[in-house]
Amino acid sequence: MAPIDTSKKPIVWVLGGPGSGKGTQCEKIIAKYGFTHLSTGDLLRAEVKSGSDRAKELTAIMERGELVPNEIVLDLLKEAMLARADEAKGFLIDGYPREKSQGIAFEKNIAPVTVIIYFEASSETLTKRLLGRAASSGRADDNEETIKLRLKTFLDNNDLVLAQYPSKLKRINAEQTVDVIFGEVQAILDPLVA
Ligand code: AP5
Repeated sequence: MAPIDTSKKPIVWVLGGPGSGKGTQCEKIIAKYGFTHLSTGDLLRAEVKSGSDRAKELTAIMERGELVPNEIVLDLLKEAMLARADEAKGFLIDGYPREKSQGIAFEKNIAPVTVIIYFEASSETLTKRLLGRAASSGRADDNEETIKLRLKTFLDNNDLVLAQYPSKLKRINAEQTVDVIFGEVQAILDPLVA
């Protein structure tokens, strides 16, 4: 495997509960920094659309709000990163890791993470946002029942994921406006590209 030199191409993990604004902030980060954005949720939804053999199994798991098996997610992510490694200025890895073992596997098989941005918001805020988005998102998992399950999966795993990286973890209050949050994001990312 071609190693990714993280001193030249920072790897940023973007974490937070369902609806915490990971995708919203990633769009702004891409616009300013030109990083390559890889969302494991998007990669999995693309795999489902491709109608591959495992599409049905993946759909069922995502509709239950559970985590897709680690090796499937890591394979998709690694393939996508290596395909873009030459041209990428840096990587935004959105929605990964969601389990302690995913973080360990990433650093062992791909590269060390540079910094972790964690968007923190209450379950009430997350639920409200996702229900607000449900009417227009077309996502099979944006319904009340699945949102509850997604939140539970997140809460069951999140503390253990974050506890692994005390020195790389940057917490941001995601209850603020999109622009205020992005101001805090820039304070974290500007030094990486200076
Ligand atoms: P994924 O697609 O990653 O979904 P998620 O984590 O549930 O997050 P969302 O994409 O729903 O929300 P977001 O944080 O991006 O928020 P957004 O910006 O859209 O994963 C889906 C599924 O795939 C998982 O459940 C799992 O099954 C599987 N999967 C994914 N990764 C996996 C992995 N690593 N391992 C195993 N399985 C995996 O914002 C939400 C809404 O809020 C929008 O309407 C937005 O406009 C609004 N909003 C955003 N910011 C603000 C703000 N500051 N103020 C007010 N409103 C805001």
